[in-house]
Amino acid sequence: MDRNLALEFVRITEAAALSCTHFMGRGNEKAADQAAVDAMRRAFDSVNIDGVVVIGEGERDQAPMLYIGEQVGKKAADSIPVDIALDPLEGTTICANGGAGAISVIAAAERGHFLHAPDTYMEKIACGPETAGVIDLERSATDNIRAVAARLNKPVSHVTVVILDRPRHEKLIAEVREIGARIRLISDGDVSAGVATCWEHTGIDLLMGTGGAPEGVITAAAIRCLGGDFQGRLVFRNDDERERAQRMGVSDFDRVYRLYDLVKGEALFSATGVTDGPLLRGVRTLPKGRVSTHSVVMRSQTGTIRHIEAVHDLARKPR
Ligand code: FBP
Repeated sequence: MDRNLALEFVRITEAAALSCTHFMGRGNEKAADQAAVDAMRRAFDSVNIDGVVVIGEGERDQAPMLYIGEQVGKKAADSIPVDIALDPLEGTTICANGGAGAISVIAAAERGHFLHAPDTYMEKIACGPETAGVIDLERSATDNIRAVAARLNKPVSHVTVVILDRPRHEKLIAEVREIGARIRLISDGDVSAGVATCWEHTGIDLLMGTGGAPEGVITAAAIRCLGGDFQGRLVFRNDDERERAQRMGVSDFDRVYRLYDLVKGEALFSATGVTDGPLLRGVRTLPKGRVSTHSVVMRSQTGTIRHIEAVHDLARKPR
């Protein structure tokens, strides 16, 4: 992944975050998401890539912009060919409610290097670099938590697991509590939570449970940059979802995808905070028409992680 793209991609996630922040806490999820999508789509036009969206806002007939298969970027003769996985506003409900952890996010890899994940659910497990290699989605939550505790040389009661607060996780939550580990329940936003397992200061050791499959691939791209581990298995609710998955090339419905199946080559990841969260500070309004953003951009090839704090003068920004 070309390193010059890193800063270009930060500009794109910044643009999306700045745009949807106008809808923060206003209770209008659709408007917040639309603002982020429009801004991200516009921002792509100035980047010298020949990009194809492989994880996006949905299939062409459902999403007018940033749909799967859409071409983005300048697409000039010298443009870099890349596949793009994106979520202009990850955590639309969080943003609409003014909650914690909404981000704007893009991951990129060489052509064909992302799993083309259908818009279904995915059972996930993620952990940071210290415990990479000890987790296994095919084992029970109990076994995984014990393995993580042993590797970190701490009692199970000090292991913190993030789980989406959903009725479908009732059994998982009961099992984790039964063995005495700690749970941080989140209302939404399992990309931030998954990536947070790789950042020691967040105090999060594991992500477990079922969330969106597209979000799983985006999370895996970040985790590949950070040296952690991620595994996922698609979860289908009906035959229609199975058919869609088949059309996207999925043949083994029970397969456990490991990190390198989800992101097969070097990747680049950029995220900008919309609201304050475990990884990033949200957009802040400053005096005199200025706003600040906090982004992180990383490349798996070098493992460099850059935090970028920017102050934008809105009056001088091109529309
Ligand atoms: P959106 O940004 O599309 O609203 O997704 C938020 C999210 O919480 C993801 O982080 C997560 O993977 C998924 O939704 C969970 O889906 P559901 O809300 O159906 O349980």
